[in-house]
Amino acid sequence: MHSTLPSESKPALRKGSPANRSFLRALLFLLALIASAATAPAVAAQKVQLSIDASKPGAKIDRNIFGQFAEHLGHGIYGGVWVGPDSPIPNTRGIRKDVVAALKALKVPNVRWPGGCFADEYHWRNGIGPQRVTGLNPNWGGVIEPNTFGTHEFMDFLEQIGAEAYFSINLGTGTPREAAEWLEYMTAAQPTTLAKERGANGHPAPFKVGYLGIGNESWDCGGNMTPDYYLSQLKIYSRFVRNYNPEQQEKHRMLKIAVGPGGSGPRWTEWTETIMKAYQNHQWSWDIDGLSMHSYTVVKWPPSFASVGFGETEYAEILKSTLEMEALIKEHSAIMDKYDPQKKVALVVDEWGAWYAPLPGTNPGFLVQQNSLRDAILAALNLNIFARHADRVRMANIAQMVNVLQAMIRTDQEKMVLTPTYYVFKMYVPFQDAAFVPVTFDAGTYTRGDIRLPRLDAIAARDSAGKLWLAITNIDPNQPAEIEVSLAGVPAKSAAGETLTAPKVDSVNTFDAPNTVVPKPVSAKVEGGKLSMKLEPKSVTVVAVE
Ligand code: AHR
Repeated sequence: MHSTLPSESKPALRKGSPANRSFLRALLFLLALIASAATAPAVAAQKVQLSIDASKPGAKIDRNIFGQFAEHLGHGIYGGVWVGPDSPIPNTRGIRKDVVAALKALKVPNVRWPGGCFADEYHWRNGIGPQRVTGLNPNWGGVIEPNTFGTHEFMDFLEQIGAEAYFSINLGTGTPREAAEWLEYMTAAQPTTLAKERGANGHPAPFKVGYLGIGNESWDCGGNMTPDYYLSQLKIYSRFVRNYNPEQQEKHRMLKIAVGPGGSGPRWTEWTETIMKAYQNHQWSWDIDGLSMHSYTVVKWPPSFASVGFGETEYAEILKSTLEMEALIKEHSAIMDKYDPQKKVALVVDEWGAWYAPLPGTNPGFLVQQNSLRDAILAALNLNIFARHADRVRMANIAQMVNVLQAMIRTDQEKMVLTPTYYVFKMYVPFQDAAFVPVTFDAGTYTRGDIRLPRLDAIAARDSAGKLWLAITNIDPNQPAEIEVSLAGVPAKSAAGETLTAPKVDSVNTFDAPNTVVPKPVSAKVEGGKLSMKLEPKSVTVVAVE
């Protein structure tokens, strides 16, 4: 809807009636000039003006905010990651080659495993050695859990994709001894009985365990504990889960993450208060490095929004709901700031993403949903929020990596498809460990019924090579956006990158049509320290400024 300057100024000029033709022409020319000058700022104002000063970098955007979560749930592991060495599906020691290749391209920093609710009923011994113990998975469909994917297989998978391990230990049905022995089994370098057993099972060298979650949702599926009860458990577990790996004693120390809040309001602020207050006064015998937070975009419980075949209203409702992540982080960060002003404890959003109604015809316990352009936009908005809080939010794990909830990848037997969310994670790779650079802009408003959302969102960062990256989301599904970015503190000659959009808000990639929502190359004009480009409606764009 951008008319050009001459046509906008024409009606005003037609009203004059001078006698002399050449005088008239000169007058018209003069008036046109005056009118153009007068109207220029108004038209420029239709563009969204953004401003970046790259000489003022902020906190590092920790690569760990691009973490993944993989639970023994539906086909999250079995079928999605693990097919077994005898499968006709191409695999390396039982792990799907296609999934590994796709995840490697995301530079996945860490994977949280084995759950979720599953973790509080997981007994690690069932998943090691030649004889695996077959059990049940009562949380997720009551199906048989073969335990063929255990500690060694998980570590092999991580090595194949190049990610770090984030274990969630069993605080619900386990014991401190079981957890401590798991750590000894995995990390001891000395020839203890457990270390020798690890060697006999194929891995003489100690494993690296980067992160350890002490329980999962202990306020709910993890045992419905009160904050005080959980705190006393936390102190015990934190004391006894030791990482013996000689390479992890100083610099690469294992970080311990306590269960944190699961929402907004008094129940959850009390939880954060309890843990953080105790942390402030903690004794030498226990410690934490992170406080987890879970927040799904669900709108109402049980999840009832369709993941495909929805319209603009549902698009707007879900995005409105997802933007509440900002307030939630602020609410809990404020409490953390009170007890930990130096921000030693990270806020770890280790379960986030959209949770919709299960796809018709699937096992409801498998949490199968489609993944649309809406989810790509939702992912970008959340990653932007995490980046803006990079000083406190230093880790996050989208739920879940393959086949479950807001997945990166969907598989069906030998078939695999990459989701729109996958592509956002791929486009955002340059933001991993880059320095956050503030962007100021007036987002404008996109309105649908009584829902009002910011029309635009943007973040910027400078990578270790000094290159400036800009990610901009145009939430408005109907209007393109013309942007003009003033760039200071960085030499700027050109800008190019990728944009992700699709014909409809609920466009998806399927096994038969995998390229409906895929990024396309874009370039932007850079002139006189200003970058200008047009953003497609409902799009996520990432450009590098050179
Ligand atoms: O991601 C699915 C489930 O959601 C997890 O197992 C649990 O932690 C959360 O409630």
